[in-house]
Amino acid sequence: MARVPVYVKCLYLSAPFRSRTPTFPHPLATFAAVRELRGLGKLDIMNGVPYLREIVHEPHPTLRRAAKKVRAEELEDPLVQQLIDDMFVTMYEAPGIGLAAPQINVAKRLFVVDIAIDREDYKLGPLVFVNPRFTAREGELESTEGCLSVPGKVGDLKRYERVVCVALDRHGKRFEVEGKGLFGRCLQHELDHLDGTLYIDKAQNIRDPHTEEEDETASTEGESTSAGGDGEAALSA
Ligand code: NI
Repeated sequence: MARVPVYVKCLYLSAPFRSRTPTFPHPLATFAAVRELRGLGKLDIMNGVPYLREIVHEPHPTLRRAAKKVRAEELEDPLVQQLIDDMFVTMYEAPGIGLAAPQINVAKRLFVVDIAIDREDYKLGPLVFVNPRFTAREGELESTEGCLSVPGKVGDLKRYERVVCVALDRHGKRFEVEGKGLFGRCLQHELDHLDGTLYIDKAQNIRDPHTEEEDETASTEGESTSAGGDGEAALSA
């Protein structure tokens, strides 16, 4: 995944939706330019300038609450659209391949995912999942995961090999996607966040990273090229 340059990192200061401090040049603007250069399409930025939010860490209580469903009318609120843009830029800056709203201390059933840039598959991001649920879960695979809310650690767990996820997009339109491999594991990791579950609750062998790939998974990079059990990349989200 392309490392998004970071010039100024500003922490999110008080209540959700308020007191954000802008960064410039903006990491998302840089990322959007990279996408266009690579022919991956434009980012859907609704409100101009997104802001970095602070990612909260375990044991922050919001990470352990079941998040609340997003009401249809909330998606018409510019502040919720701003929240979604902020989540993208915060995820890219981290960097990670997924970010759930509870990770920035907002207890709403909403997450963002983008693995398109690495896979050169535009269908895999950027995607917004509002009120997501799985309609199918099949098979089993080994996953090595890290989490932006549990920095510096990785662990091994089992995930479904294939999931089908139904959700609303940021405009309130229902959609369905099939998730396999890294994408499928990422969907499961993020949906767990909305239920107050962290990967460390399910994982074995939670450890400090021992290899370069694990180090990337644990700390900075959303995806590494380490061969997991399924030959897929490790995951940090
Ligand atoms: Ni996570």
